[in-house]
Amino acid sequence: MAPWEYRDFDDHESVHVFRDTAAGLTAVIAIHSTALGPAAGGVRFWHYARGEDAITDALRLSRGMSFKNAMAGLALGGGKGVIVADADRRKTPAMLQSFGNAVESLGGRYVTAADVAMTDADMIAIGGETRHVTGLPPKPGMAGGDPGPATARGVFLGVKAAVARALGKDSVAGVHVAVQGVGSVGGRLARLLAAEGARLTIADVDGARAAQLAAELGAETVTPEAILTLPVDVVSPCALGGVLDEVTIAGLQAPIVAGAANNQLATAADGPRIHARGILWAPDYVINAGGIINVGLQYLGGTIADVEARVARIPDRLIEVWDESTASGEPAAIVAQRIAMRRIGRG
Ligand code: NAI
Repeated sequence: MAPWEYRDFDDHESVHVFRDTAAGLTAVIAIHSTALGPAAGGVRFWHYARGEDAITDALRLSRGMSFKNAMAGLALGGGKGVIVADADRRKTPAMLQSFGNAVESLGGRYVTAADVAMTDADMIAIGGETRHVTGLPPKPGMAGGDPGPATARGVFLGVKAAVARALGKDSVAGVHVAVQGVGSVGGRLARLLAAEGARLTIADVDGARAAQLAAELGAETVTPEAILTLPVDVVSPCALGGVLDEVTIAGLQAPIVAGAANNQLATAADGPRIHARGILWAPDYVINAGGIINVGLQYLGGTIADVEARVARIPDRLIEVWDESTASGEPAAIVAQRIAMRRIGRG
């Protein structure tokens, strides 16, 4: 199939295939849009059953980065890299070097960063061949490094905005929040919520992690299966994608769903589904933009203060989506996508 015949092609500006047999590299770099700036998005190292699955993944994720970067207010477009792993998932220095050369050959139209199965050391190796890499260890006072704290801060502010809108409260004190997954982002979010007096129930497949945090914060714990359907004020998915589906949405008792997890909606039908239940949902790529703001501003030369200032504007973007959703009667998922498309000049 030709790249433009893929269901996820969606007018990509360009799709590049790199094959360097000597270095063992097969890679795809998809550039969805550079309307707002260089197309930024991570590179993942993944074994695909079929070659077309690698292209589909690059296309889908690249478009997602266009939307995410546009909604984060960054001067960055959307792109994504995929390094196709063999069944043994062998990753070699030559392969990384070759990928670095591939990125460099695009002359800054694509900026790469770590995604699934790429380590800091891998990114430093790629960075030996090209300067169009971000998410590297930061310089003092500058943006970059672990994206978790900025993501958690943005989600916390987003939860507060949702609570203000749906419950009319200007604080989360006494508000009951259920957090699914208390890892890098969910754990930090729980601490921020607890510090403002929220009542917390948490769940994690790592039971010891959940128990330890619960003891620290005076939270309750439940099983990962039970957390989404508790009678709470806010459900915050901070673990896996695809958790909002026909069954879980029907079981939700909370008036608000706002969390960090990427791609929370299992299918395109689930945005309308959650809307039809009258639940206020924070589109994931809007509320969880803190991480990309941190990584993106490292490339663009921002400071920690710049990151904080931009993360503080995440609630404004959510309110813009919710206002348009209220005015048009359309689901937040559809409105967010339309606003993002407008921002990249495709509205
Ligand atoms: P993490 O790996 O540090 O934490 C995830 C936690 O969820 C772990 O404690 C894990 O044991 C738990 N978990 C996994 N499956 C679960 C289940 N079924 N039920 C309950 N708990 C479960 O990951 P991190 O970095 O905190 O990311 C969380 C989510 O936020 C992911 O979907 C990620 O893609 C998304 N995200 C993270 C960003 C970041 O800056 N780290 C940025 C944007 C999105």
